[in-house]
Amino acid sequence: MIPINLPKIGEEEVEAVIKVLRSGVLSQGLGAGPTVTQFEKKFAEFAGVKHAIAVNTGTAALHSAIIAAGVKQGDEVILPSFTFVATAEAVVIAGGKPVFTDINPETYNISPAEIKKNIAKKTKAIIPVDLYGLSAEIKPISEIATKHDLAVVEDAAQAHGATYNGKPAGVFADAACWSLYASKNMTTGEGGVITTDSDETAEALRLIRTHGEKAKYASLMLGYNYRMSEIQAAIGLVQLEKLPSFVAKRRENAKRLTRLLAKIERLQLPEETKDQQHSWYLYTVRLKNATENERNKIVEELRRKSIGAEVYYIQPVHLMPYYHENFGGRRLSETEKAAKQVFSLPIHQGVTGAQVDYIGKTLLGLL
Ligand SMILES: Cc1ncc(COP(=O)(O)O)c(C=O)c1O
Repeated sequence: MIPINLPKIGEEEVEAVIKVLRSGVLSQGLGAGPTVTQFEKKFAEFAGVKHAIAVNTGTAALHSAIIAAGVKQGDEVILPSFTFVATAEAVVIAGGKPVFTDINPETYNISPAEIKKNIAKKTKAIIPVDLYGLSAEIKPISEIATKHDLAVVEDAAQAHGATYNGKPAGVFADAACWSLYASKNMTTGEGGVITTDSDETAEALRLIRTHGEKAKYASLMLGYNYRMSEIQAAIGLVQLEKLPSFVAKRRENAKRLTRLLAKIERLQLPEETKDQQHSWYLYTVRLKNATENERNKIVEELRRKSIGAEVYYIQPVHLMPYYHENFGGRRLSETEKAAKQVFSLPIHQGVTGAQVDYIGKTLLGLL
C-alpha cells in the first residue's frame, strides 16, 4: 500500500535523540529546556514571526491560543466544519461555542462571505483552517476581524510550507497553531507550536503551557501541562531543516499528478491562487456531481490496487453526533456536498515519480 502520509525519519533524527538521552536533560518543569528553546527560535524564524511556543500537540496549541485570545464561557467562535475535529474541540474545551460556517467550494476553506453572515454580539474569534495545506483567505478574514474587533487564530496544523502573499502561513493572524503529528509535513511524533508576533500573547501562552507558572508553585492563572519534551524538540530541529526539501518533493509530485489528471473533466483538481500557495499536505480531488456511493467505490477500488486513498473529511464536524446534538442545527450545503465528493491521493515526500504515475494511471482507468 502507498500510504496517504508517512513520516520520513533518517539517521540525523536518531542521532539527535540519542544526544538528548545522553545529556540527561529530558524536560524542563518551567516550560522549555535548551533544545525546546532552540527549536522555538528556529521555528519562529521559519514562520516569520517573533515568537514560537512549543507544546505537546496541535490540539494543545489550539486550546492554548483560544484561551490567550480571551475566549470565555459562552463566547462564540466562527470556524469551518470541514476540518479535523480538534479545531472545534479546542473551542469547546475552552468553554466557547463553535459556530460552524460554510466553505468556498473551490478551495474548501472557510468563506469570508459566510463568516460575515455569522458574526453576532457574542462572537469573539475566528479560526480559519489552512485545509489540506492551502492557506485560508487570511487577508479578507483579517479585515473582517479588525472591523468587528475579533481575534484570528489560524489553524495551520497542515500548513508547513504554505504561503499567503509570499509570506509563511500564519503571519497575518493574531496567532497560528501548528501540528507536528506523525502524518504532517514535518513531525516530532506528537507535538505542536503556536506562533505569534504579540509579546503579550506569547507571555500568556508560556504560562498556559505550564500550570500558569512563571516561578515554581506560584500559579498566576489556570494552566495545563502542555510542555514539549527535549526529545521531541531534538527531532523537530532536524525535521525543520529538512522541511524545504520535503515540501519541494510534495510540490513536484503534485505537479506530476496534475499533469496526468488534467484531461479528466469530471475531476476538480487542487489549485493554488494568486495569493494562496499550498504546503501540499494533501492532494485532494473532487469527483464533480458524484454521489457519495460513487466516490466511495473509487476510493475502495484505489485501495484494492494498493493506493492509500482517504477521505478528509467523510463526516463534517457539525454532523458528528456530539457536535450535532450540542452545536448543530445549521445546514452547510457546500461543506456537506464536498464531504461526499472529495478524496485525497498520496504525494508525500516518500512517494516516487513512478508511484505518482501509477496512481494517476490507475485513477484514469477507473473514470
Ligand atoms: C486541521 C487540524 N487541526 C488540528 C489538528 C490537531 O493536531 P494534533 O493531532 O497534533 O493534536 C490537526 C491534526 O491532527 C489538523 O489536521
